[in-house]
Amino acid sequence: MGCLTAGEQKYSRGLEGVIAAISSISCIDGDEGNLIYRGYPIEVLAKYSTYLETAFLILYGHLPTEKEFEDFRENIKSNYELHPGMIDTIKNFMMDAHPMDVIRSMVSMMGIFCKDKREFSREAKYLKAIRVIAKIPTMIAAFHRLREGKEIISPDKSLTYSENFLYMMFGEKPDELSAKVLDIALILHAEHGMNASTFSGMVTASSLSDIYSAVTSAIGTLKGPLHGGANERVMSMLDEIKSLEDVKPFIESALAEKRKIMGFGHRVYKAYDPRAKILKDWAYKLCEMKGDLLHFKMGDEIEKIMIEKVGKRGIYPNVDFYSGLVYTHLGIPRDIFTPVFAMSRSVGWTAHILEYLESNRIYRPRAIYNGPIDLEYIPMEQREE
Ligand SMILES: CC(C)(COP(=O)(O)OP(=O)(O)OC[C@H]1O[C@@H](n2cnc3c(N)ncnc32)[C@H](O)[C@@H]1OP(=O)(O)O)[C@@H](O)C(=O)NCCC(=O)NCCS
Repeated sequence: MGCLTAGEQKYSRGLEGVIAAISSISCIDGDEGNLIYRGYPIEVLAKYSTYLETAFLILYGHLPTEKEFEDFRENIKSNYELHPGMIDTIKNFMMDAHPMDVIRSMVSMMGIFCKDKREFSREAKYLKAIRVIAKIPTMIAAFHRLREGKEIISPDKSLTYSENFLYMMFGEKPDELSAKVLDIALILHAEHGMNASTFSGMVTASSLSDIYSAVTSAIGTLKGPLHGGANERVMSMLDEIKSLEDVKPFIESALAEKRKIMGFGHRVYKAYDPRAKILKDWAYKLCEMKGDLLHFKMGDEIEKIMIEKVGKRGIYPNVDFYSGLVYTHLGIPRDIFTPVFAMSRSVGWTAHILEYLESNRIYRPRAIYNGPIDLEYIPMEQREE
C-alpha cells in the first residue's frame, strides 16, 4: 500500500510553520512586534491613512494617486446597496441568528444575485472583491436594525466608509472621534498574513471557485472563538471582574488556576502586538470623550499585572484586548464585534485570494494514514452486534 505513514513525513499540527504561499501583501515580525502592509508600517498607516486608502494599498500593492483613490472610493460607494432580493431574504431570517451567520449567508447569496456571476476575468474578480468590501457593513447594519424592530437605513454616500457604517447602525452621523477610532480599528484589522480565515478563503479559491464562495469560507472560519471573538470574551471578563480593586485578585487566581486571560498571547507575536499598542491610545481618547474610563483603567491594570507576571514568557496584550473596549464604547453590540472584524478583514482575504490566483495551484495537502489496512469484508448479516 502506498499510504503515507507516521515517520515517513513530518507532520505539523495546525500547519504550524508550513509555508503555503509566497506573498507581498504583509509581513509580521512577531519577535519585535512589527507589522507592515505592502512595505508600510501599520503605525504610519494608522497615523496618515484611512481605511479605504489602506484597502486600496493592500489590494493593489501601492498607495493610490488622487485619481485612483477617487475611482476606488466611488466604486466602493456605488456598491454599498444590497440587491432588493437580498433585503427581502434578510427580512425573513430568524432575528435571533448570530450576525456572523447572517453575513456568511449574505455574502454567499451575493453569488446568486450578482449580475456578472459567470464572468471570471481579472477585472471581474477585483470588482467582486470591491462589492464584498462595500456590502458587508450594509449587511451588518441592516440585520442589526431589523432585529431591533427598526427600519433599515440606506447608506449615505457623502460619508466616509466608517462614518457610513455607524450611521447605518445607529441612525445618526457619528462624532469625529468615534468615526476616526473605528477607521483606525479597521486599518489595524485589515490584513494579517496567512491566518486561518485567509487560508481557508484561499483554499476555496484555489479550486477556481468564485470570490463569493471563497469569502463565505473565510467568514465561516473567522466565526470560531479561536480566531475572531476573543474581544467579546475580554468584555465578559471585565464584566466578571466588575471593579478596579478586583483586578489583581482575579488575575492572580486565574493565573494560579492556569486559566487563560482573554486578549493576551498570540501564536506569532511574542512581543507587544503593535496593533494593540496603537488601539490602546485611541481607546483611551474614546473612553475619555465618553466620560467612562472604568474599562480602560481595568484594562491598563490587567496589562501591568500580566506583563509583570508572564511578559517574559512572551505573553502580551493582543489587538483583541483593546478592540472590544473600543467597539463597546462605540455602542456596537458584542455579537457584532466579529462581523466588524470580517468587514475590515474582507480586504486582506480578497487581496490574498486575488494574489494567489495569479499563479494558482489547487491546495491539496496529504494526511498520514494511521488506520488499519487489508481488513476482510464481512457480509452485514454475519457481523456481530
Ligand atoms: C492566542 C493563543 C490562542 C495563542 O496560542 P498558542 O500560540 O497556541 O499558545 P498556547 O495556548 O499553547 O500557550 C502557550 C503557553 O502560554 C500560556 N498562555 C498563552 N496565552 C495565555 C493567556 N492569554 N493567559 C495566560 N496564559 C497564557 C499557556 O497557558 C501556555 O502555558 P503552558 O506552556 O504553561 O501550558 C493563546 O495565547 C490564547 O488562547 N490567548 C487568549 C485568547 C485570545 O486573546 N485570542 C486572540 C488572539 S488575537
